[in-house]
Amino acid sequence: MAIHIPEDTLSEIRNTANITDIISERVVLKRAGKDHVGLCPFHSEKTPSFTVSPVKQIFHCFGCGAGGDVFSFLMKYDGIGFFEAVQSLARRYGIALPEENMSPAQKKAVSQRQQLFDLNRQVMAFFVDQLTNQPSGQRAREYLEKRGFSKKIITQFGLGFAPDGWDNLVRFFRKLHISQSLAENTGLVVPRKSSGFYDRFRNRVIFPIADVTDQIIGFGGRVLDDAKPKYLNSPETPVYNKSRSLYGANAAKNKSRETGDVYIVEGYFDLIALHQHGITNSVATLGTSLTAEHISLLSRGFAQKAFLVFDSDEAGLKAARRSISLFMNAAMDAAVIVLPEGYDPDSFVFEFGTEAFLKAAEKAMGMVEFLVESSIRKNGLSMEGKVRIIADLQGPLLEIHDRMARSIYIQYLAERLNVNETAIAEKLKSGEKKVRRARSGNQPLPGDSRPPAEDNPHFVDSEMIKIERQIVSMMINSPEILPEIKKRNVLVRFSDKRLREIAELVLEHPVYGNEDLSRLMNRMTSPAHKDMIASLVIKDDCRDLNQCAQLLSQFMNSIEKRQNSLLSQIKSAQESNDEALLFELLKKKQEQSVNRLR
Ligand code: GTP
Ligand code: MN
Repeated sequence: MAIHIPEDTLSEIRNTANITDIISERVVLKRAGKDHVGLCPFHSEKTPSFTVSPVKQIFHCFGCGAGGDVFSFLMKYDGIGFFEAVQSLARRYGIALPEENMSPAQKKAVSQRQQLFDLNRQVMAFFVDQLTNQPSGQRAREYLEKRGFSKKIITQFGLGFAPDGWDNLVRFFRKLHISQSLAENTGLVVPRKSSGFYDRFRNRVIFPIADVTDQIIGFGGRVLDDAKPKYLNSPETPVYNKSRSLYGANAAKNKSRETGDVYIVEGYFDLIALHQHGITNSVATLGTSLTAEHISLLSRGFAQKAFLVFDSDEAGLKAARRSISLFMNAAMDAAVIVLPEGYDPDSFVFEFGTEAFLKAAEKAMGMVEFLVESSIRKNGLSMEGKVRIIADLQGPLLEIHDRMARSIYIQYLAERLNVNETAIAEKLKSGEKKVRRARSGNQPLPGDSRPPAEDNPHFVDSEMIKIERQIVSMMINSPEILPEIKKRNVLVRFSDKRLREIAELVLEHPVYGNEDLSRLMNRMTSPAHKDMIASLVIKDDCRDLNQCAQLLSQFMNSIEKRQNSLLSQIKSAQESNDEALLFELLKKKQEQSVNRLR
């Protein structure tokens, strides 16, 4: 793919958009020396190996190997293309992009998401105006006032009103000359069977839904009376994905990071009520159950502990059973708050106040404790009850992969039921075997022994590649060594193709500063190459010239040794008439010489 945006513009954007700022909007970062570290958003981990270097303006994960510059981060995190990433940063920092350089297809791809964000914001303003200034908004104003919501919170959350009628928004779009396809992509107007569109939201209080960077991605709407359906939400659109979005996420971020915990509720008004009562580290799911993506968003970008707030034991039990494995196997503690019968977070804080809510949070039970206690309440502690409880808990306990954690919970259950701990463990084991058998026949189990590295035929290669990595890292970080690399013709000896490609580029375009580094990144069209460069740059061991020279000699010596050993192996294969082995060895030798010729 050709890059149509001039290097200078890319550099300007990259230098203006500090990578640490952009990433820390999405991932909690802690300072560690000259770098920042956090939980990697690209793979599941419990200890931070995701590293951001403000000095070099790159990120790299030591766990999964993801890496790159600020553009690569946005591409990966938001699932967008290079041009979209460039454009969104350019817009944000007011840097003009020379559009004429783009093909029509590129222009279209770049702007679709941004157009939706822009239009959604205009729609929000339209609904806000209806609520605050128009006569038709009167009933909605009264409704919100009656429910106790302050002007301040209504403004903060951008609440609005979609007036009654089938074409208020349709006409608004027409006035703005919005194309049919863009209008339809907002999900706010619905195509009629015959032709044309009608408004999805009519006579409803409107909740705009923002993402963590405050872009408007969708809307929810509630009727003012008992009409059905009570709530209506935007459908999934190119910018709105329910299982990845949380209502109030942006408003909750700062407080969550400060306190280290986050409350998760289920309704728009529940969320707003908590915020109005100062419990601003709260988010709400959007009419779906909690997903692994939600938890990942929260654990990486917000807090280490989640409080799930449920209206009733029954709802809580269901939800807790569903999400237990999500929490147990993510880097997030979870506790369950059950409100008194008949209350939801909204009615609870309005009636009893902030202090009472925080007290309830103090009494929150851990997930497993909650499951055990509710099951005891349901089944009682008779002999039959205990049998049912253990059967009840078997599924959730099996979802906990961490052995230590599991055994602690088993111990708790055993003590609570006054049942032998080993008996429960045995029962789980038999359940686990069933699950495993059902899953698949011959997957290797963790802990299966592997041959030690020295016996591994790839051992030599991986050793060599390690040195090759060090050499390229050194070439990027200490360009003084480049003449020596050239003189000794080192690169032709490389066995790793990707490393050699990067090294050749570095030789051609030495890296004297971040500017050159970003150019190098941009020359790499494959994400795998970018990942690799980031990892090479970030593992800078600050060698001096002397050490560099040593490394080179070590590499050349190893190559020579390897060749000698190959030759002697060939010789002995010839002597013992092992034709198959001989063939293999000759092939290897040929590969080496081909490498050298390239
Ligand atoms: P209020 O009655 O206004 O206090 O709302 P609530 O949040 O207490 O209502 P409820 O507990 O019934 O619903 C919680 C959440 O579930 C809502 O905020 C919606 O996101 C979702 N929800 C509830 N009812 C409906 C519905 O009829 N359709 C859809 N799509 N979602 C709903
Ligand atoms: Mn409610």
